[in-house]
Amino acid sequence: MCGISGYIGKKEGLQIVLGNLRKLEYRGYDSAGVAFFNLGANAEIIKTVGKLDNLERALRGKRSLSATAAIGHTRWATHGAPNQVNAHPHSDCRGEIFLVHNGIIENYQDLKSELIGKKHRFRSQTDTEVLTHLVEEYGFEWALKKIVGAYAIALINKKEPQKLYIARLGSPLVVGVGEKEYYIASDPTALAGLVKKVIYLKDGQRGVLSLGGLEIGPARPKIEKLDIDPEQAQKGHFPHFMLKEIFEGPEVLRSALRGRLSADKGTVKLGGLEGVTDKLKNIKKLEILACGTSYYSGLAGELLFEELTNLPTEVMLASEYRYAKHPIKKGTAALLISQSGETADTLAALRKANHQKNLTLGIVNAVGSSIARETVAGVYNHAGPEIGVASTKAFLSQLGVLALMALYLSPKKTAAHREIMRELAILPEKIKMVLAQSGKIKQLAKKYLKYKNFLYLGRGYNYPTALEGALKIKEIAYVHAEGYAGGEMKHGPIALIDRDFPTVALATQNRVYEKMLSNLEEIKARSGPILAIATVGDKKIARLANDVFYVPKTVEVLEPILNIVPLQLFAYHFGTLCGYDVDKPRNLAKSVTVE
Ligand code: AGP
Ligand code: GLU
Repeated sequence: MCGISGYIGKKEGLQIVLGNLRKLEYRGYDSAGVAFFNLGANAEIIKTVGKLDNLERALRGKRSLSATAAIGHTRWATHGAPNQVNAHPHSDCRGEIFLVHNGIIENYQDLKSELIGKKHRFRSQTDTEVLTHLVEEYGFEWALKKIVGAYAIALINKKEPQKLYIARLGSPLVVGVGEKEYYIASDPTALAGLVKKVIYLKDGQRGVLSLGGLEIGPARPKIEKLDIDPEQAQKGHFPHFMLKEIFEGPEVLRSALRGRLSADKGTVKLGGLEGVTDKLKNIKKLEILACGTSYYSGLAGELLFEELTNLPTEVMLASEYRYAKHPIKKGTAALLISQSGETADTLAALRKANHQKNLTLGIVNAVGSSIARETVAGVYNHAGPEIGVASTKAFLSQLGVLALMALYLSPKKTAAHREIMRELAILPEKIKMVLAQSGKIKQLAKKYLKYKNFLYLGRGYNYPTALEGALKIKEIAYVHAEGYAGGEMKHGPIALIDRDFPTVALATQNRVYEKMLSNLEEIKARSGPILAIATVGDKKIARLANDVFYVPKTVEVLEPILNIVPLQLFAYHFGTLCGYDVDKPRNLAKSVTVE
């Protein structure tokens, strides 16, 4: 959500900053702006509401002076309506300090009152603006000390046009290290192809970048290799990032397994956990904490861990866990699942678990992200950047890593464990078989386009799949869809069933298949249309369902990895047929870094 871009180097910074804001668009925003020094060496702030096209139009003909600093911002409002005044950059009373910010200043009202008491004049309703007046009043370092909340900050000022000040606490900020030039961005994908070295700022780090070099402290900055291939961050031949990422499913699953699963030897190696294997042997309970799609993969993870390792496991919404009052749980380990590694609720839950001295593990996709760095140990997804706001490939990857973790933690490897390993190794091929039928799913989406409400029904491992499938069509087609456990239908939702209320039923052949058939009988008896996801070769289902999409047979504990794919495609086609921007759905942000 929202983004920061900045540059200091020999080149003209304005176009570079704008170009990198473009690469951050997918994070979701409502307004944007830049601050730079023009050819007359005068500082200029230009900001607009809406898409970056509006900002580009406002910047037509503008140029920045080489070797001076420039900053840019895409805003996702938390305090103050999305309008031109509240857009960033913000400046101080004298118009000498220009600042952009990601995050929330939680004590901004007190600070604003204090500053107004010192005769500072505010222009906006944002929390961010207090930062500029704090710097004006106390200087950069002291200003930061007065803040409670989360921030990634970039600041330039008239007195030092060749300096770019940065700071980070809770919201991500990456420094791209070039040859006598520096870039800053909220996300390393914006720097792909521009630099080969980056610094993932840690919480509490701040500093100044200039033509003469960088000064970052108090903790020494760690320069790391940036290995994101610029191509990978582009759409390729796909019309949308979302479709590209759905079709990356097989490769993403292979990447999650690569170097970790040896099906023929019956072994699983997770280097990221090797430092804590002894601690893991002594845990009494595992708590999985996550949000959104990551929470749904955690639901499947709960079933996997309990079935494969006998380890009592409970999945909780991170946003609930962080405020819940519960006893200190000795011997409990927390597993945080997060694609972005920056989700505010999940990060807060992690910090609570760390504070309670729980062993904290991560399943994270974004290398160097806050959750990745603050968990004691963890496993990276290696799924590559997920640009589409609706999570697709990350979900498959999370499920793959959860299966690996459950196998890794299993005290013994039974024949069933070895069968799961073999199936996991060939599952990418079965996903490809589903993807090859994307056209058929598009026809189904066309057929169901007239409906405004859906019930997504599943049991056992297909229950999390139903929840995730419903989330997908909500997110990108703005259709009301309820994911429900099949056994719960009789306890209320059955009242909704009629000819205008279709059910997407996950009815693959597994231990609860017959129970799902009973659900379908009850729906059919009430004229509810049924689109069933069933197992290839199933002879019964066609009698009950209006439409059937067949998926290959797989082992039950791995079903969510395969069965979610037709639902991802169904949501994608449904959303595009509605003419929506499926990569950047309304109101949504790719990474929810504020509460
Ligand atoms: C999923 O399609 C959504 N974009 C959202 O629910 C997301 O899964 C959630 O915000 C958690 O994000 P994370 O995995 O980056 O922590
Ligand atoms: N809280 C700030 C605002 O509402 C920054 C929001 C963001 O991260 O974009 O302007």
